[in-house]
Amino acid sequence: MNIEVRKNEHIEICLTKPVEAERETTWLEYVYLPHRSLPEVDPRDIDLEIDFLGFKFSAPIMVSAITGGSNLGFKINANIAETVEKLRLGMCVGSQRILLEKPESIYSFKIVRDKAPTAFISANIGFQELRRYGVDRLVELIESIRADALTIHLNPLQELLQVESEPMFRGLLSAMKDIVKELKIPVIVKETGAGIIREDAARLEEIGVKAIDVAGLGGTSWSRVEYYRAIRWHDDIKVEVSKAFWDWGIPTAASILEVKSATRNIKLVASGGLRSGVDMAKAICLGADMCAIALPILKPALKSAQEVEKTLKTFIEGLRIAMVLTGVSKIDDLKKIKPIIVGRLAEWVNKRGLNS
Ligand SMILES: Cc1cc2nc3c(=O)[nH]c(=O)nc-3n(C[C@H](O)[C@H](O)[C@H](O)COP(=O)(O)O)c2cc1C
Repeated sequence: MNIEVRKNEHIEICLTKPVEAERETTWLEYVYLPHRSLPEVDPRDIDLEIDFLGFKFSAPIMVSAITGGSNLGFKINANIAETVEKLRLGMCVGSQRILLEKPESIYSFKIVRDKAPTAFISANIGFQELRRYGVDRLVELIESIRADALTIHLNPLQELLQVESEPMFRGLLSAMKDIVKELKIPVIVKETGAGIIREDAARLEEIGVKAIDVAGLGGTSWSRVEYYRAIRWHDDIKVEVSKAFWDWGIPTAASILEVKSATRNIKLVASGGLRSGVDMAKAICLGADMCAIALPILKPALKSAQEVEKTLKTFIEGLRIAMVLTGVSKIDDLKKIKPIIVGRLAEWVNKRGLNS
């Protein structure tokens, strides 16, 4: 099937259907931050600035990979890029696989650098493509947007449920290792809504990956997106199978703790179901260096850069207030606060022998 059609279907489904996990959540509701009634910090003292992979961000917030490759993608990317440049944040473009098959769609990615000449921008490709396309082709994708990093996304769940897919997973870690070695820019590895577990995080750090984005369970569920596509394409088996996986994966809060416990020098990005600045404060307190969001940005990005700005500023303001209420003025100090972990997350931490 034409990739452009598929990408537009993803956007349309994400805009019109309930695509988040059904019964499961991020488990951030099991994380409490110690509320300080005597904060001794004023809102104007709050400094959200951080360093991430050599870049200064005004706040620990990125827009996750969403799209590219169509007129719709052009508009979405332009509005996000303009805003992250203005707010000094960062973004990851959507999968650039389409460029390898349809080079004329380059305009929908190039616009990102035109609108964001100095912001942190990451290129993006699926792990499935690593065997099919060599380093030279990947360098082309990176150079097309003068990317500051390459994000490789892991989406085995989606690949297995997609109506048109023929997934092959063996040997991909080794392909990734070769790419990490050859590229001059840092490689980020992200999931796409099912989270990353300790055992895989350790293997990723070992091959030289510089950042891991957990993209855990609790936000956009690709099994749910593929469920709606399977209905559309009359694939009755995939409809039923994908339904069983709506809540599959590692909840975002658990995944942050998993990755943190298995890695030493890697940057940890929290994503998957972050829906407020409070979620972000909790994620940072659990160990994240950066927070990322996709679904909350989609609708605003189809409207205007101003709408994207409003959404991002809402997250920033929530994070700022959460910091005042925990009595810290810097992100590094927020990381030092011990969160109170209860319920199922506490049980998970215990069972898996994680530090929290
Ligand atoms: C419409 C849409 C398209 C996406 N396309 C990509 C993609 O091309 N590459 C990728 O790595 N992730 C993609 N994602 C996944 C997001 O980057 C993110 O990991 C996931 O949606 C979880 O974050 P959220 O709960 O904030 O949406 C997409 C998400 C959405 C909503």
